[in-house]
Amino acid sequence: MSERAQFATKMGVIAASVGSAVGLGNIWRFPYEAGMHGGGAFIAIYILCVLFLGIPVIIAEFIIGRSTHQNANSAIRTLAPGSKFRYVSYIGICSSIMILSFYSVVAGWIAEYMFQSLLGGLNGHSTQDYAKTFNALAGSPWRSILWTYLFLGANFLIIRKGIQKGIEKISNFMMPVLFLLLIIFCINSLLLPNAKEGLKFMFMPDFSQVSPSMVVGAMGQAFFSLSLGLTCLLTYASYFNNKTPLVKSATIIAVLDTCVAVLAGVIIFPAVFSFGAEPAAGPKLVFEILPGIFGQMPGGYFWSLAFFILLFFASITSTISMSEIFITFCTEEHKMSRKKATRLNTLIAMVLGTLCALSFNLLDDFKIFGKTIFDLFDYVSSNILLPAGGFILAVFVGWVMDKKIVKEQLTNSGELNVRTMKPIIFCIRYVAPAAIVLIFLYVTGLF
Ligand code: PFF
Repeated sequence: MSERAQFATKMGVIAASVGSAVGLGNIWRFPYEAGMHGGGAFIAIYILCVLFLGIPVIIAEFIIGRSTHQNANSAIRTLAPGSKFRYVSYIGICSSIMILSFYSVVAGWIAEYMFQSLLGGLNGHSTQDYAKTFNALAGSPWRSILWTYLFLGANFLIIRKGIQKGIEKISNFMMPVLFLLLIIFCINSLLLPNAKEGLKFMFMPDFSQVSPSMVVGAMGQAFFSLSLGLTCLLTYASYFNNKTPLVKSATIIAVLDTCVAVLAGVIIFPAVFSFGAEPAAGPKLVFEILPGIFGQMPGGYFWSLAFFILLFFASITSTISMSEIFITFCTEEHKMSRKKATRLNTLIAMVLGTLCALSFNLLDDFKIFGKTIFDLFDYVSSNILLPAGGFILAVFVGWVMDKKIVKEQLTNSGELNVRTMKPIIFCIRYVAPAAIVLIFLYVTGLF
């Protein structure tokens, strides 16, 4: 306990939650998911999911974490002795490991792009050349695996040595810079010849395109991007002090996270249409488009280097938070040493990460339910496990937990006047659980 307490009390917990939320989910996953699902309608549904599912479930996680100051499993045991709801912590552990595995592959690509930017290799080519650059990287088993391991190694060193504090300090500075850089890139993209097409694609929803896979994709993206449903924010909230305003903090996290995702879209889509690329290109989308954008900017070398360094940091603050779920579980529930737990976490992620890295080359034909291992991990964790975890946590807070504690948490024992309390409780009790169930029924064809 002491190590985890130390880790969190010495850094800004809100900053840590934002650090967890903002990452590859916003800059890599959001544009490609939006691109694959037709743009505007996906984004509109995504925003609805953030408002009516995301914010209530963040608050639910905060309430459980802050009211007990314990990890998910023991928190639920304390709040509702004997309740089966505590098993939600296993959903959290499984999904955190699956996400860490494929996330590290993508973060490894970012690391290699950072390195290539440094050497000047990402400059001055045509868009087609960037497609080749990416295919050469993802298509090479050893390069992909090497960078995945390097990234996991960096993550390992940080969490093992307990130097999150240092990293968080750096990222408290880096995040605003990343934000600023994104705004500059947005302006640049808006000046591209076919910018209008890109904006139309993003902001003029064509609701005739709505499909079960789009709706479940938007919900999954909201959970993934907000680090939600796997008890990550619950764990962080167990370090909030009694003055932290839960509703306000949840809103700040959701708004900032959504802004970063939308900014990333405004950077990517005008460029996609101006470069004649394919919006539905999937996971490789941003890797082919971004270098092209930097390439045509004056001083492209520095923009690209700065961007990939910042994105690398944003990724690492996210992987630190997802690793912490497994590590706190092992150290607090199974009395394992932090060192051992960190090693185990990294080892599992290396094995599974290898399979994910091979999904783009040697194992690209190996499919389960029509998906490569990489896609399967991504789909199962984001679209199934996280919403299922969110459902359980919302039902727990809405229906099982003592209402007095819920109100105390929302108002900081009566100190805050939270005008939105009734609608929030309504969303936690009814809207979020019902919407998650309906979306699941819709995608399975039962509704
Ligand atoms: N929210 C992170 C992102 O958008 O990159 C990904 C993530 C972090 C998911 C932590 C889950 C988690 F526990």
